[in-house]
Amino acid sequence: MRKGSIVALLGLALIAGGVATAVALVPTWLPEEASRQAGRIAFTFWFVIAICIFIFSIVAAVMVYSVMHFRVQEDDFEDGPPVHGHTGLEITWTVIPFLLVTSIAIVSAIVLSRNDAQAQDTLRVDVTAQQFEFTFSYPDAKNVTSPVLRLPKDRSVELYMRSLDVIHSVFVPQFSQKEDIVPGLVTQLHITPTRLGTFPLECTELCGLGHSLMRSQAVVMEPAAFDSWLKQQEKAAAPAPPSTTTSTSISPSAAGLAVFNQNGCSACHTLSAAKATGKVGPDLDNLVSYARQAHKPLEPFVRESIVDPNAYIQPGYPKDVMPQNFGHVLTKEQLDHLVTFLVQSAQKSGNK
Ligand code: CUA
Repeated sequence: MRKGSIVALLGLALIAGGVATAVALVPTWLPEEASRQAGRIAFTFWFVIAICIFIFSIVAAVMVYSVMHFRVQEDDFEDGPPVHGHTGLEITWTVIPFLLVTSIAIVSAIVLSRNDAQAQDTLRVDVTAQQFEFTFSYPDAKNVTSPVLRLPKDRSVELYMRSLDVIHSVFVPQFSQKEDIVPGLVTQLHITPTRLGTFPLECTELCGLGHSLMRSQAVVMEPAAFDSWLKQQEKAAAPAPPSTTTSTSISPSAAGLAVFNQNGCSACHTLSAAKATGKVGPDLDNLVSYARQAHKPLEPFVRESIVDPNAYIQPGYPKDVMPQNFGHVLTKEQLDHLVTFLVQSAQKSGNK
């Protein structure tokens, strides 16, 4: 090979590599990192990109050089000369890709195992997914559920995820991790948040008509603030009777409020009696007027709307978004409490 061609090839490779590097680095491709795992995943990503740029530069240089120097005459339809094996070249183009692919496998295996390694004091959060909402509960505290994933900063957190109906998937872009939630399985995801703030949490598996509405938030808090939030929630949920034969001492409306909170109703509905501000479904402070529009008495209307949500759809709100299984999920007693609570608070706000 002439010295001149080597210089030309090198020059072409540098140009191709420079362009590819600029495309990789100048736009911001990845969201800000908010977990320890995200940093490692970003490392793997850039490691693979660097290898790709290296290979791309070689291929682009050889291709452009060949097009420029080995062009045939326009009327030349002959086959090219038969070239037989070049052992040295074949060994080279087998060994180099083998080393590159193996290094990617090793780096990925290390990153995966370190990302899954839980710390001693890992916090457990149970995630329940259903069409079309997430509910997060904290086994460390009694009866605490939240429609929003609250996490303490710098603590190892393991999500244990279940689905009540179809396949969903949980994804917080800033945490870089995504995991399917499959009916019949408990899938796990390990996160160590490193940045305070509120990040979008979304379902990333097409799970029905309300899929695009199946969104929540991950809120990363200072550990002290998280602990006091958890304690406060535990206190608020304390009078809740989950499987009650002893609920006689609790007022039906307090029990109803607990059912309301435990089932994540506030993710979609506004209700001042529960300090809920969801906007997906009908505003429950207006139940009296909705019942009038549906031409039904208030109490049976509320009950029907929980058990069979598609029986009447309030104009302006989407059909098929409210889960249709509350008739099975709630016990008879829980349903009664919830209906009583909603009717009472609706009458209060309806009379304003
Ligand atoms: Cu759940 Cu998409």
